Amino acid sequence: MTRCAFPKILYGGDYNPEQFPKEIWDEDMRLFRLAGIDTATINVFSWSLNQPDEETYCFDWLDELMNKLHDNGMRACLGTGTAAHPAWMARKYPDVLTVTYDGKKRKYGRRHNSCPNSPTFRRYAGQMASKLAERYKDHPALLLWHVNNEIGIRCYCDNCERAFREWLKQRYGTLEQLNQAWYTRFWGHTFYDWEEIVLPSALSEGLQNSNSDQTAFQGITLDYYRFNSDSWLECYLIEYRAIKEIIPDAVVTTNFQGNGTYKPLDYFKWAPHLDIVALDIYPENHTPESYMALRYDLMRGLKDGAPFLLMEQSPSVINWKAVNPLKRPGVMRLRSYQAVVRGAESVMFFQLRRSLGAYEKFHGAVIDHAGHEHTRVFKECAELGQELQRLGSGLLGARTESRVGLLFDWENWWAVELGGGPSVHLKYLDQMQKYYDAFYELRIPVDFIHEGTELGRYDLVVAPLLYMAKPGLARKLEQFVQGGGTFVTTFFSGIADEHDRVVPGGYPGELRRLLGIWVEEIDALFPDRRNRIVVKQPFGLLDGSYECRLACEIVHPEGAETIAVFGEDFYRGSPALTRHRYGQGEAWYAATEPDRRFLGQWLQALCEAKGIRPLCAAPPGVEVAERAKDGAIYTFVLNHSDAAQKIHIGDDIRQELLSGGTVSGEIELAPKGVMILKHNRALAQA
Ligand code: GLA
Ligand code: ZN
Repeated sequence: MTRCAFPKILYGGDYNPEQFPKEIWDEDMRLFRLAGIDTATINVFSWSLNQPDEETYCFDWLDELMNKLHDNGMRACLGTGTAAHPAWMARKYPDVLTVTYDGKKRKYGRRHNSCPNSPTFRRYAGQMASKLAERYKDHPALLLWHVNNEIGIRCYCDNCERAFREWLKQRYGTLEQLNQAWYTRFWGHTFYDWEEIVLPSALSEGLQNSNSDQTAFQGITLDYYRFNSDSWLECYLIEYRAIKEIIPDAVVTTNFQGNGTYKPLDYFKWAPHLDIVALDIYPENHTPESYMALRYDLMRGLKDGAPFLLMEQSPSVINWKAVNPLKRPGVMRLRSYQAVVRGAESVMFFQLRRSLGAYEKFHGAVIDHAGHEHTRVFKECAELGQELQRLGSGLLGARTESRVGLLFDWENWWAVELGGGPSVHLKYLDQMQKYYDAFYELRIPVDFIHEGTELGRYDLVVAPLLYMAKPGLARKLEQFVQGGGTFVTTFFSGIADEHDRVVPGGYPGELRRLLGIWVEEIDALFPDRRNRIVVKQPFGLLDGSYECRLACEIVHPEGAETIAVFGEDFYRGSPALTRHRYGQGEAWYAATEPDRRFLGQWLQALCEAKGIRPLCAAPPGVEVAERAKDGAIYTFVLNHSDAAQKIHIGDDIRQELLSGGTVSGEIELAPKGVMILKHNRALAQA
C-alpha cells in the first residue's frame, strides 16, 4: 500500500477537455486558477481516442493536457479510461459485450459495457494501464490513478458462466461440497458435473424478471454475487498491478458508486486493494443529511478509519432523475464540509466543464454552458476553493474517534434480500440507517466495522439484522461481551450460515447462548400495521409505550431479562426487548423494529451506561462532528436548516478556522452556515 500525502484538501473534479476545441483549454486554466481548483480527473472516457485500433496508441492530446495542467500548477488524477470500450473492439471481439440478467446479449453502446470475464477486455485494459504508466511515470503533474470508473455491472454471458464454474471449483473442491452448501436436494437440483451449473439469471433461478434479488436458490445466487464482485476486483487488480509494476509508489484508486452503498460490490473486500478509498455521491435536495453521513462513515470504515476521497459530487444539478432541481445556494459548500468532517480529503466534482452534447449536457458543472465565471455556481465553487486553500493541510490525516462500532456486511445485505423471508419490506440498509440515525441524532460518533475488526477498542457493538452469522463470529462476539462489551442485535439475526442454510435448533442459532433467548416464530406486519412495545423495566429514559412495525418475533428468554414486551396481538406480553448479562458485559436483543423515539432513548441509555457522551448538544438540523489530529480537535458545526441556529459550545475559547476569529459560549450559525472550531485536547478533557 502506498501512503497518501496530499499538500491540502484536493479540489477539482472530472475534466473532459477532449470534448472541446483546444482554444478553450487555456480559458479553462484561467477559470480553474480563479476557482482555486488544483486537481483534474482526466482521461476517464478516452479509450477510443487513445487506441483508435488494435495496434495503434496515441496520446498526443493527453501529453498536451498533462503539460498544460503542470504549467498551471495543477495535478492530475489520471483515469485509465477503461470504463467504456472502443466500438472497434466490440465489433471485432464480441466477447467484450455483456449479457443482461434476462439473457439479452447487448450491442455496442453506452458505457460500463464490458464483461468482467472477457479475455479481450482484460488484456486490453491491462495493456492500456501499462502504456499510460510507462508514458507518464515521470510526469510532474501525475498525482494519483483512477482505474476504470464506477466499476461493477453484473454480466450473465458464457465467459462469466465458465469463469463461475472455475471459481466454484476453487471454493468447494468437490461437487459433493457444493451440493451440500447449496442445499440442492430441494427441487431436485443435485449436480453431477460442473458443466451442469449455469448462472442464476432470469432464465434459470430468477423468480421475477425485473428483480434479480428474488431467486429460487439463495446459495447459488449468493455465490454468483461473490463471484461477480471478485471478477471485477480481479479486473481492477490487473490494472492496479500493471501500474505498480512501473510505478511502485503510485497512488491507485477507483471511484465507488451508489453513494458508497453499491450493492453488487463487497467494498469491505475491495478496500484493502485501494491505496485510498474514493466515493461518488449524488444526494437529492430532499435527501436527509444522515443518509450522506452514514455513507461517509462507511467509506472511512472501509479502511479502518483512514481518510477517503470525495471523488465526485455535483456542484449543482444532476441530470438522471425524472425531475432535477437545482442545488440551493450554500448547499454545495455545506455538504462538502460534511464530507470533510467525516473523513474526506478531497472535494471533487463531476464535472469541471459542462459538456455540449449527449446524455450529460444538462448535468451541473463548475463552468457552465455560458462559459465564464459570472454564474452563481462558479462563484460558489470559487468561494469554497479559496476557503480550502486557506484551510491548508491542517486537517489532513485527522481521524475520528468512536467507541461505538456498527457492523456492516455486504453478504448479509445480499442474503437478507434474496427472497423467501418474512417480508419484502425487510431491507438491510433501512435497518442500518435507522440505528445509524439514532446515533446521528444523539451526536455520538460511530465507526463502521466488519467481521474481521478487532472489537476490543469498542464499548458498544451494534449489528442490525445480523441474519447471517459467519463462522467464528458468534464466538468473537461472546468474547467481546465476556470482556465487558455491550452488544446489540435485532430480530432476524443468527438465522443462517454463510451459505444461507438455516442453523437448526432454534433462532438465533449460534447467537443463542450469547443473547440468552430463543425465537420460535416471526410475524410479519403489513406496512400500515403497528404493534406496541411496553416497557416493563424502565431503562434510562426508556419507559412507557412505543410503536413498532415490520416484524415481531415470539421470543423465549433462556437467561435474558425481559425489559419490554409486546402490547398487542396473541403474543401480547412476550418479550420485545431483552438484556442478557454475560460475563462482564451485556447482550441486547430487539425482537421488532421499534420507533425512532424508542431507539433514541434505548441507545442513549446504553451509551450513558458506558460513559459515552454526545459531542455537543445542538438543535435539530444542526450536525456536529469531529476529527482529531496531533492533540487538536476539529469540531464542525453544520447548519443544514433554513433558519439561523444558536448553539452553546462551552466557555473555552476556540479558533474558528473559516473566519479566522475566535469564539466561545453561544454561537450563531446562518442558514446553511458552517463553522470549524479548533481546540486542543487538554482543554476538551478538562
Ligand atoms: C457518475 C459517473 C460520472 C458521471 C456522473 C453523473 O458518478 O462516474 O461519469 O456520469 O455519474 O452524475
Ligand atoms: Zn460476462
